[in-house]
Amino acid sequence: MRQTVTVVVNGATGRMGYRQHLVRSLLAIRAEGGVPLADGDRIWPELVLVGRNAERLAEVADRHGLRDWTTDLAAALARDDVSIYFDAQVTQAREKSIRAAIAAGKHIYTEKPLAGSAQAARELADAAARAGVRHGVVQDKLFLPGLRKLKRLVDSGFFGRILSVRGEFGYWVFEGDWQGAQRPSWNYRAEDGGGIVLDMFPHWSYVLEDIVAPVRAVTAVVATHIPERVDERGARYPATAEDAAYAVFELDGGIVASINSSWTVRVNRDELVEFHVDGTDGSAVAGLRGCRIQPRAGTPRAVWNPDEPSTEAYRDQWLPVPDNEDFGNGFKVQWEAFLRHVVTGSPFPWDFHAGARGVQLAELGMRSAREGRRIAVPA
Ligand SMILES: NC(=O)c1ccc[n+]([C@@H]2O[C@H](COP(=O)([O-])OP(=O)(O)OC[C@H]3O[C@@H](n4cnc5c(N)ncnc54)[C@H](O)[C@@H]3O)[C@@H](O)[C@H]2O)c1
Repeated sequence: MRQTVTVVVNGATGRMGYRQHLVRSLLAIRAEGGVPLADGDRIWPELVLVGRNAERLAEVADRHGLRDWTTDLAAALARDDVSIYFDAQVTQAREKSIRAAIAAGKHIYTEKPLAGSAQAARELADAAARAGVRHGVVQDKLFLPGLRKLKRLVDSGFFGRILSVRGEFGYWVFEGDWQGAQRPSWNYRAEDGGGIVLDMFPHWSYVLEDIVAPVRAVTAVVATHIPERVDERGARYPATAEDAAYAVFELDGGIVASINSSWTVRVNRDELVEFHVDGTDGSAVAGLRGCRIQPRAGTPRAVWNPDEPSTEAYRDQWLPVPDNEDFGNGFKVQWEAFLRHVVTGSPFPWDFHAGARGVQLAELGMRSAREGRRIAVPA
């Protein structure tokens, strides 16, 4: 039997809303006939597209054979047949819409960050819990093949005692003058909810917490390396938000994670994000898709000798971790889990409370940078 769940998709024409959530997740789920349940039933998502621009919404709906769209969010939330509100709007517009969805008694799934401030995020988590609605935040990085293989290594005890994590995230985002920028300009304006700390620290919060250990303290330095950029209309604007963050996170168990996040770095890595984990019994480097390991017994003896040219091909001294399964698109996998959570009550740990911890880490990171000191994460 088909169990229909009607989902309001707000921000359906945005970069993430359209590509990852609508096309690669919800429409892909429909193309497969819905999400299968243990009893043989299937969850079928009906979609109501919401956005600000009627013309663009109509065009997107038309392209995918959808008919239900509106620019009136309040009207969509007032519909009895709607049970889930999904938010992929710009960060700044999120809190107000989620509050309205909670008031309307809808279950809520949202892009990260949950809100622009830790207090607002905590309030949303409390309000959703009080209202008894189900809630979740996108934590897509956990569902990337590379990080799932890393998690597999941790669960198998491969590392022994984990000592440290080195994370490199970033790529060059064009300034927008002689080549268009590949990210929307609001990302570079603090007053519009931009900045790489609010964008990326929520990811590092759940990646570290779920795969390695929870974060207990943060020390960060941030920079706005490119002070002026050119927006979508070709106009120059001052970049008021940081475009790079260099952070040290202290985790439970004395583990140190040092993670660089930057939109002003040219890539000399295998992937746009890589985590290098060292443990007493072995090490691993995980990216979006790949994961390579070097076990203790396979560790070459490195000797410092500046007088001779290097004879070692260090990168060849690592073994690939096999996929051993079909991982699927990470956004889609998490959508399937959320839809099951709504329909069957199955566990969904990536809720508003986890989302609020991510926003809190971003806020503490900014405070650390501003005050030039280490900040402990309150329990
Ligand atoms: N999970 C991830 O990996 C990931 C990656 C990038 C962005 N995001 C998050 O997704 C959200 C959307 O980011 P995006 O890159 O898709 O942005 P985008 O600018 O491409 O899309 C934003 C959407 O919000 C709508 N919107 C509502 N109010 C707006 C306003 N006042 N100004 C501008 N747009 C407004 C737009 O119509 C558009 O549909 C952000 O919260 C961002 O943090 C998540």
